[in-house]
Amino acid sequence: SDGDHVPALVVGSGYGGAVTALRLTQAGIATSVVEMGMAWNTPGPDGNVFCDMIKPDQRSFWLRTRTDQPLGYFLGIPVNKPIGRYTGVLDSEAFSGIRVYQGRGLGGGSLVNGAMAVLPKREYFEEILPSVDADAMYRTYFPRAMAALGVNNVDPAWFESAACYRYARLSRDEAHASGYRTTFIPSVYDFAYMAQEQANAVARSALGSEVIYGNNHGKRSLDKTYLAAAAATGRLTVTTQHVVTAVAPANGGGYVVTLTQLGTTGDAVNTKTVRADRVFLAAGSVGTSKLLVAMKATGKLPGLGDAVGHGWGNNGNVMVARANHVWQPTGSLQSAMPAVGIDNWADPAGPVFAEIAPFPSGNETWISLYLAITKNPHRARFVYNAGTGAVDLTWRTEQNQPSIDAASRVFDTINRRQATIYRSDLFGVCKVWGDDLTYHPLGGCVLDQATDNYGRLPGHPGLYVMDGSLIPGSTGVNPFVTITALAERNIEKIISTDLP
Ligand code: FDA
Repeated sequence: SDGDHVPALVVGSGYGGAVTALRLTQAGIATSVVEMGMAWNTPGPDGNVFCDMIKPDQRSFWLRTRTDQPLGYFLGIPVNKPIGRYTGVLDSEAFSGIRVYQGRGLGGGSLVNGAMAVLPKREYFEEILPSVDADAMYRTYFPRAMAALGVNNVDPAWFESAACYRYARLSRDEAHASGYRTTFIPSVYDFAYMAQEQANAVARSALGSEVIYGNNHGKRSLDKTYLAAAAATGRLTVTTQHVVTAVAPANGGGYVVTLTQLGTTGDAVNTKTVRADRVFLAAGSVGTSKLLVAMKATGKLPGLGDAVGHGWGNNGNVMVARANHVWQPTGSLQSAMPAVGIDNWADPAGPVFAEIAPFPSGNETWISLYLAITKNPHRARFVYNAGTGAVDLTWRTEQNQPSIDAASRVFDTINRRQATIYRSDLFGVCKVWGDDLTYHPLGGCVLDQATDNYGRLPGHPGLYVMDGSLIPGSTGVNPFVTITALAERNIEKIISTDLP
């Protein structure tokens, strides 16, 4: 509460924040986590905490009066609909050239994401983060992260028979028949629970079209793993529906942190300041970068270097869909958790790792949907707008062209070999590529550039960055395992050398 003095304050409760909270509390340090979103532990009038993707209500989106679905059209007709303005779980944050999707709530992106827990390719990891000892990462921190996240694998025999993965088997077989290799994707969704869903033995979540607006069952989100373990130490304090708006050095050491308490319609209910000896920024690539760029521009954190705000990328994300032949149904029942990816990363002319994504509409659509991760070289930066006080992102939609080019190599080939075509009615009217959105914001406060090699902000002792903003715009796979493992590495160092 207002005027408190705490030893350690963590801003944000996604992967970086949850790792930080667990390791600090285990080290005996009383830790306060501040999260702008809701706690998501209370069922609504329908008995569920979260809404599904077929009938999104106010719980779906962060402070919008209309949904903003990643696929905004069907047969070229807009599918978004009015909703009540509410502090919902998924934010579609609009910058001029890109919509950045992010989770809002205790657990951050883990509440809304597809649960795909993918280890980055070691060679590529060494390329993007050359200052990090890859041996230590692959020997110690990746395994530590995967264990604490509760990663599990689909039973291949069950996968072959389950109706809910017909769509994935079809896309996989088409990829193989076109000369591409595929791989199973580990997950933090409990596949044993999913098998029970398929057998009609439990309430459906992945098989109930639940994912981007939260899962009522089955998913090992951070509130059930890292954050639950941190709470069990008895040293964790969580404050939700509070947004951190400023961080500045305090007289006599530590930091003064300014918070605005939000009501469920986004109204500012209260403003508070607390003093923290140490502050761990884990507000995500966008949240942390925006805060630091604003603090630098307004002189509140004068020690920040010029690299702050730079090096942002969208992990090369583009989405695309193909129309299958009528004799190749994808199934009306689809698991919302992807289980297979097309791995064409080794193609030097255009590396692609494409997840075979569900289209869980409840009807047969014959659609094969993909989220492609590519090696897009373009980067953008966050810029403070002195006129509005807002922070903009310089990314332009055209910067996605290299991603489209790389993904086209794969999907043009599949279409040619399978005699199929792209769907052009899902991302707009006559628009093939979903190129104006990302699920994977990365960078803005890059490790060993804006911070030291462990996330410390030079010039401001006791101020750290712990989240996806440390990763320079790309990981080549879905990013949360990389973010988690890097946070494990950094917090271990910080606890052993900086904390008494
Ligand atoms: P993250 O965004 O998780 O957490 C930051 C938290 O800080 C949020 O809870 C936010 O509300 C809070 N916050 C921000 N600003 C604040 C402020 N000023 N004050 C207080 N709180 C603040 N990745 C993957 O590996 N596999 C997958 O399957 C998917 N699928 C996927 C689907 C969808 C729909 C999305 C949106 C994203 C994914 N991702 C994914 C991406 C993954 O979820 C993402 O990379 C991580 O959540 C990022 O972790 P961070 O810790 O960096 O931030």
